[in-house]
Amino acid sequence: MQLKDQLLSKIENRSACIGVVGLGYVGLPLALEFAKAGFKVIGYDVSERVVSLLMSGKSHIQDVSNADLARIVKAGQFEATTDESRMQEMDAVSIAVPTPLAKTRDPDMGFVIAAADAIGRNCRPGVVVVLESTTYPGTTRELLQPKLEAAGLTVGEDVFLAFSPERVDPGNPIWNTKNTPKIVGGITPACTEVATALYATCLDTMVPVSSTETAELVKLLENTFRSVNIGLVNEMAIVCDKLGVNIWEVIEAAATKPFGFMKFTPGPGIGGHCIPLDPHYLAWKMRTLNYKTRFIDLASEINSEMPAVVVRKVAQALNEERKAVNGSRIVPKFREDGHEHASVPLTDDQITRADAVVIVTDHSKVDYQRVVQLAKVVVDTRNATAKLAKGKGRIVSLASASPYATA
Ligand SMILES: NC(=O)c1ccc[n+]([C@@H]2O[C@H](COP(=O)([O-])OP(=O)(O)OC[C@H]3O[C@@H](n4cnc5c(N)ncnc54)[C@H](O)[C@@H]3O)[C@@H](O)[C@H]2O)c1
Repeated sequence: MQLKDQLLSKIENRSACIGVVGLGYVGLPLALEFAKAGFKVIGYDVSERVVSLLMSGKSHIQDVSNADLARIVKAGQFEATTDESRMQEMDAVSIAVPTPLAKTRDPDMGFVIAAADAIGRNCRPGVVVVLESTTYPGTTRELLQPKLEAAGLTVGEDVFLAFSPERVDPGNPIWNTKNTPKIVGGITPACTEVATALYATCLDTMVPVSSTETAELVKLLENTFRSVNIGLVNEMAIVCDKLGVNIWEVIEAAATKPFGFMKFTPGPGIGGHCIPLDPHYLAWKMRTLNYKTRFIDLASEINSEMPAVVVRKVAQALNEERKAVNGSRIVPKFREDGHEHASVPLTDDQITRADAVVIVTDHSKVDYQRVVQLAKVVVDTRNATAKLAKGKGRIVSLASASPYATA
């Protein structure tokens, strides 16, 4: 029997040992799905803290419950380790390590290279390796394939290599790892076949594509689409502010069009570690080919300007209260550039003492009615207070109140 057929039959009868490299937001839920599908799963992570936490049945990821994790650990179906030699037991390896940006906005491929080196050192014939980390087109072929070939393995014959982007949206109550369609693109058709068979054991819908580059670019198109549309709606918020038109009313009305429009909302910039980063992977790759990705650059420019737009709003709101930004007490909510901006619990006392309360994220857990009731000034960048009863303080929206509004 060929190596491919042996591997396919191990996948089908669940005797394959599944490895997940990097046990964070992406890797841990994936490991859980494989375990639920009946596989023995080994999770490899370089962090002792993460590994010992997981082995004690405690999840550090919102989408994985302690109960689910503890159950598979106790049943011996999932084991986390920092010992890279355990990779020798793996028949399939999914890589979900970080792909951050350097300060210069160039890709930092250090984590992927370290993981690929470890796999190269421990790989054997008859294994499928799948990269899940978001990255620039060409990474799987240019960076991973040589590491496997340096170990004397021919990709497509001895080992199978594919890219399959993770599309998880942490905290989303409807779409999760299992029911979000999974894109898979292999270096060869055999690679696509094996990787598709692997994920089909535990995920609902598979979408095979013709190459690793296609699969890599699918993810970047999705997140560039979001970044560009957020950039557009952020610019609309600035336009509306200058025109004295309420941006939220414009968006809600436009969203009643049943076709040809998709709702995006403005905000104080882009959060998380996907949308602000991923398009720059593509922009970087295209710079190496002497092409400037103008939409990506412009969206990034507008989105990066939004924090300054909000700061101007806060200054304006305080000014109208005869206060300067300097010396004003504003509830701090962020951490940046390695500097800790200590956050405080949102108590009645804190809200009352603050000169301005700035809402930068619309969290369902926060009682915004209480904030509106008690705060002196609220600068609401997410329209979180639109449907609330008036409180004692003023609410300043991202867009100013319309002088034309009749209601
Ligand atoms: N979080 C998301 O919502 C999301 C969604 C889609 C795609 N992604 C992408 O998935 C990838 C992983 O993101 P994440 O959010 O899971 O990251 P994370 O920081 O939550 O987890 C990454 C884990 O990898 C470990 N790690 C680092 N180097 C390693 C190595 N050499 N070997 C083994 N483990 C190593 C870290 O200790 C950490 O536990 C990134 O490329 C990210 O862009 C993330």
